[in-house]
Amino acid sequence: MQVEVRERLDSSSVDLIVVGIPEGAEQCDARYMNVAAPLFKSGDLSLKPLETFIVPGPPKTMFIGLNKIVDAEAWRRAAGTVVRRSRNAKKVAFIGGDARAIAEGAVIASLSVEPYKTTPPKPGVEHVTIVGGESKAAEQGRVLAESTNWARQLINTPSNDKPPRIIADRAREMAESVGLEADVLDEARIRELGMGALLGVSQGSEEPPRMVVLKYKGHADSDRLLTYVGKGITFDTGGISLKPADGMEKMKYDMAGGATAMAALRTLALMHAPVNCMVLVPLAENMPGGRAQRPGDVVRSMSGKTIEIINTDAKGRLVLADALAYARQLGATHLVDLATLTGAVRVALGPVRVGVMGNNQSFIDSFLRAAGRAGERMWQLPMDDEYRDLIKSAVADVANSGGRFAGAITAAKFLQEFVGDVPWVHLDIAGIAWNEEEKPYLPKGPSGVAVRTLVEFGIGFNGEP
Ligand code: BES
Ligand code: MN
Repeated sequence: MQVEVRERLDSSSVDLIVVGIPEGAEQCDARYMNVAAPLFKSGDLSLKPLETFIVPGPPKTMFIGLNKIVDAEAWRRAAGTVVRRSRNAKKVAFIGGDARAIAEGAVIASLSVEPYKTTPPKPGVEHVTIVGGESKAAEQGRVLAESTNWARQLINTPSNDKPPRIIADRAREMAESVGLEADVLDEARIRELGMGALLGVSQGSEEPPRMVVLKYKGHADSDRLLTYVGKGITFDTGGISLKPADGMEKMKYDMAGGATAMAALRTLALMHAPVNCMVLVPLAENMPGGRAQRPGDVVRSMSGKTIEIINTDAKGRLVLADALAYARQLGATHLVDLATLTGAVRVALGPVRVGVMGNNQSFIDSFLRAAGRAGERMWQLPMDDEYRDLIKSAVADVANSGGRFAGAITAAKFLQEFVGDVPWVHLDIAGIAWNEEEKPYLPKGPSGVAVRTLVEFGIGFNGEP
């Protein structure tokens, strides 16, 4: 999709003109008040958010209701709604509005989540013009949304088409196209480095594991290396602790954290953000094959710590343990990991907020501020020492499952064992990464949650203490 900003509209060049109206207001962009005034009088324009009123054309004019408070999210929703509903318009112009948010909403809404259907794709909006506004803002919105779509299409891909080696190839191609450094560890190097936790997870699958490392250097004289670590389980059957069949097909999205981290780095690179940022994605398929690891097995992680496997379904934390240890070896000074880690976070926070945990309150606070600026809702959960007691093991240094209680927190406590004293934030995105209900700019399916926050945090990182 093309996005551009113009000073003036040449109405012969568009199919649809969109004008926003805040809920309850009798006002819209001054350039359209002459058209709107009689419609306000007749009551046709008292629109609830995302309700529309169309004046026939050509070009048609669509008035669309905005939230009372016209923030970025209001424009994202409006632009997304227009793109998802206007199948007959190829060229759409928005009169005024937040250029960055309009670009984001329109581009995110334009991704088809049905690429495997052999019926021809429905036609859609191809060109968006924003009349008045900053070109740079629109460009940033487009870059961010295209990166988000890159992650979403990967998350949406069926697992037979994205074993670890294929995701690693996609990562390398992406890195090349935007100028990132890339290193992909194969099984032999993973073994040399002693990543026994990652190997334990992948050994039940015919597909070998990979570890993707991407680097972006945007700040020549900073000695801080912000590092994003994203879980990359390409399919989660649960392993020998097999999941129930009902809903298991969803477990193709268990690599959403990894895809999201890579998408954020892509965006930072294209925006030339002033930060040094690294991304690690440990990739494995969790299958119950003949060589699969068993409950009761003990593995030795790269850090040297031993782990008792209580439940082979709790494996995201295993692959992350080795990735976090490797990140420290590569010089990470600040760690953020993100993962579709637990069903428990879905129970605690539902499909509304991302769970946030960590080991350093001022680092967590600065991360939450970035989430606030990005407009993504997150919520911190406690990390009292006593939660660590729940993952004691009788035979190893730590157990990979703490049972029924506080599942999101005990998973984070497990990860904490592997970050040392590096400031660290953990995001559990299991409740939000897959949209179960359609939203204005998002169909059911992968949401791309956290890309915006990771980008915002990366941009501001060197301005924070
Ligand atoms: N991938 C799941 C978590 C998940 C569940 C993500 C539902 C998205 C939707 C994770 O690997 C898992 O299986 N976690 C277990 C851990 C338990 C065995 C300690 C869980 O949460 O049930
Ligand atoms: Mn699992």
